[in-house]
Amino acid sequence: MKKKKLLIATGGGDCPGLNAVIRGIYKRAKKTKEWEVYGSMEAFNGVWFEPFRIVKLNRTKVAGIHVRGGTILKTTNKADPLHFPVKDECGNIVFEDRTKELADKIRFHGFDAVISIGGDGSQKISKALFDHGIPIVGVPKTIDNDLEATDLTFGFQTAVQIATDSFDKLVTTAESHHRVMIMEVMGRDAGWIAVHTAIAGGAEICLIPEIPYQIEKLVKKIESRYEKGRGFVNIVIAEGAKPLGGTVTASKGEEGSRHIKLGGVAFELSQQLKQAGIKAEIRETVLGHVQRGGIPTAFDRVLASLLGVKSFEMILHGEFGKMAAFKNNEFVSVPLEEATKGNKSIKPDSFLVKGAKGLGISFGD
Ligand code: F6P
Repeated sequence: MKKKKLLIATGGGDCPGLNAVIRGIYKRAKKTKEWEVYGSMEAFNGVWFEPFRIVKLNRTKVAGIHVRGGTILKTTNKADPLHFPVKDECGNIVFEDRTKELADKIRFHGFDAVISIGGDGSQKISKALFDHGIPIVGVPKTIDNDLEATDLTFGFQTAVQIATDSFDKLVTTAESHHRVMIMEVMGRDAGWIAVHTAIAGGAEICLIPEIPYQIEKLVKKIESRYEKGRGFVNIVIAEGAKPLGGTVTASKGEEGSRHIKLGGVAFELSQQLKQAGIKAEIRETVLGHVQRGGIPTAFDRVLASLLGVKSFEMILHGEFGKMAAFKNNEFVSVPLEEATKGNKSIKPDSFLVKGAKGLGISFGD
């Protein structure tokens, strides 16, 4: 009997747990004896552009990969088919929707179904491909944990663990030098990594995009720590945090990218604190991509592996145009339309924030 062909793609930024999803899909598909599993290299670029880069997965290729960070299929933020960058007559970059062209390529290669593992951007592409007739299922991923349709995304816990390990190291050096230490973490427009790290590490101050900070409040908190003789302060700041009435710290993305690059707010905050009169020495650490590297935690391996199995079972049940999700301790499927509606941010009146404040953490509000 001719076997059916499944295509997997990993898109957007990488994230610990991607390989565990790939292995989960492969293992579950193999049990059916009816499916062959292929991977498109660098998101959908492998099936879209010549020379095509499509790999057939086998036991050797997936053996033990659940332990490894990154993605064996590689990934990219570039060549988003919904906003494909092209130059107009004046040489300016404009964006075109090329999803129909990509859908035709997927059909040309003879795939019977597709699983797309990626964040909000990738799932918007999944939805567009579905609208062009591709039988597709999405799997959510992001260290930022900011997808509304799922309670948790794999990679998040690993990022928090890495950030907490780094935070713990900064505490001992802050204490030795009586310094103010600022540690900047990722998260884009959401403060999930920051708040979880601040609670786990025992920070004095946590600044997040959802709660613009007031510098006078921070100065008061810092000074009171020094007055009480606790001569050091550890601050966690999310890359998307901003002062009340201010803007985020960002630079322009690469050519052809529609997105700005967040980063450097730790240095901005340091300047603001100095200008506001903080005399203690201040040091800044920007954790950056270390948060996305290395081996996934056991929890993220479990979450990712089970999402792999779930997404393949959605293919078996013909649940296309949907995304696998983890909601209320269950693995469920949600329509891609719902999954791509909005991002999940921290509610300032949530218990997460109230609880953190109960532990003495200041959000500068
Ligand atoms: O969305 C995940 C994330 O790591 C964000 O936290 C961060 O702002 C961004 O990706 C960094 O993207 P890049 O890998 O393109 O620098």
